[in-house]
Amino acid sequence: MNRENELTKTNNSQSNDQVILSTRDLNVYYGTFRAIKDINLEVKKNQVLALIGPSGCGKSTVLRCFNRMNDLIMSAKVEGSVLYNGNNLYSPDVDAAEIRSRIGMVFQKPNPFPKSIYDNVAFGLKINGYQGDIEEAVERSLKRAALWNEVKDRLKDNGLTLSGGQQQRLCIARALAIEPDIILMDEPCSSLDPIATLAIEELIRDLISKYTIIIVTHNMQQAARVSDETAFLMVGEDRAGYLVETGDTQQILTNPKEERTEAYITGRFS
Ligand SMILES: Nc1ncnc2c1ncn2[C@@H]1O[C@H](COP(=O)(O)OP(=O)(O)O)[C@@H](O)[C@H]1O
Ligand SMILES: [Mg+2]
Repeated sequence: MNRENELTKTNNSQSNDQVILSTRDLNVYYGTFRAIKDINLEVKKNQVLALIGPSGCGKSTVLRCFNRMNDLIMSAKVEGSVLYNGNNLYSPDVDAAEIRSRIGMVFQKPNPFPKSIYDNVAFGLKINGYQGDIEEAVERSLKRAALWNEVKDRLKDNGLTLSGGQQQRLCIARALAIEPDIILMDEPCSSLDPIATLAIEELIRDLISKYTIIIVTHNMQQAARVSDETAFLMVGEDRAGYLVETGDTQQILTNPKEERTEAYITGRFS
């Protein structure tokens, strides 16, 4: 797949703080309801950004803007811009399907296709017309998702026969197969037990040598364990979600600048 087109071109030097994704005055409306307002965020390459905040503050809405998943919601209207390597994902000439092949998504509830383990991973490659060796790509993706050893002798079994944690790693393998740059994860561990959660958290830390990850999580300990930076969102009086503060995860969780963040992380409201 040729990835050297306008979307991946960048003039930035390869510093550790290279911004791969950013939003400018991002607003999302569902019909007339403004769900998020004026969000300005930066995501650094090969880091994990955690989005935290109370239920309904717009975390999933923000996440969906990063790969134009809100396009699929009829009532949703996005204003402002989302820059990926400096290019606006919402420019009229940008192909949303192509965006989604570079910016993959893993959902709250594992959602493997009712197909074999092998076909789950091969699917995206086939529809994208992958020219390489599919078998090799499936193996590579399952290895990267730390699932290969558990499934290598049962690749023909239905993906739905796996445990919840394995299914979620299968969904991660499926996302990795098409070689994205960025992986969006919306509360990926919320339906998993603590051991399966730990496996996904370890995997996230392993993946950032190659990918950039944005994770929505309810769980502050999880943000502390997996993320480099954290963005804290809240719901305003007008019910619109807004960004309170963003920064280094340890700093946000131990010494936030804003009283509202402090109140949230110390459990004074949820
Ligand atoms: N498809 C939708 N249609 C209408 N309103 C929605 C839709 N999705 C989310 N919302 C509303 O937008 C706000 C933010 O929701 P969401 O992004 O799901 O928050 P979070 O993920 O932080 O819980 C909430 O008030 C929610 O009810
Ligand atoms: Mg959500």
